[in-house]
Amino acid sequence: MVLIAPSLLAADMGRLYEQISMVEKAGADWLHFDIMDGHFVPNLSYGPEIIRQMRPQSKLFFDVHLMVKDPLQFIPMFTDCGADLITFHYEAANDVSAVIKAIKQHNIKVGISLKPQTSEEVLKPYLNDIDLVLIMTVEPGFGGQSFMHNQLPKIARLKELTANCSVLIETDGGINEKTAALCVQNGTDVLVAGSAVFKHPNPKILISNLHKLGE
Ligand code: DX5
Ligand code: ZN
Repeated sequence: MVLIAPSLLAADMGRLYEQISMVEKAGADWLHFDIMDGHFVPNLSYGPEIIRQMRPQSKLFFDVHLMVKDPLQFIPMFTDCGADLITFHYEAANDVSAVIKAIKQHNIKVGISLKPQTSEEVLKPYLNDIDLVLIMTVEPGFGGQSFMHNQLPKIARLKELTANCSVLIETDGGINEKTAALCVQNGTDVLVAGSAVFKHPNPKILISNLHKLGE
């Protein structure tokens, strides 16, 4: 089984509620919120208020991807807005264990994300303490970029490393039907897709095709 998490970065923000209900009806499993601070990545997106306002509008699992420098200081802003999972970047944290602890204290699931240049081996000390690893298959910061095929061995290696723990592998960036198939073959459990979902003439068909990859 593979879960589909549309990234709202590619949605029409002027019609956010409609877009969320559209992907929910189209069969999405999660909603992916990209939080960018203009420091860790050279782009800005939105903050916790958007998540808070969308929470009563949707039953989907809220997957929050923090692309922020020093995530520890931002955790309190994101623990009461309705996030089900908070993922932070390994490269951005001064004390990885402290960030994991701060998120878990609120009974929220925790993920760690890796930029393309970061080796999966750095996660070994944390794999029993987290719920998800998010592998970036583009440089974080922007939607609509091309998938980096050189990240596929990282997915496969993480599948091996997590064989004895209950950690989901999520892949984010440049996902379309072709690249999604490669990710699933290598061990991805959750596919984030922004442009592929929101620019598709029939997102329901796309989501259904992506689900079939996991059957
Ligand atoms: C990029 C974000 C992604 C982005 C993916 O930094 O983390 O979630 O929205 O967009 P697509 O699917 O268009 O590559
Ligand atoms: Zn993301």
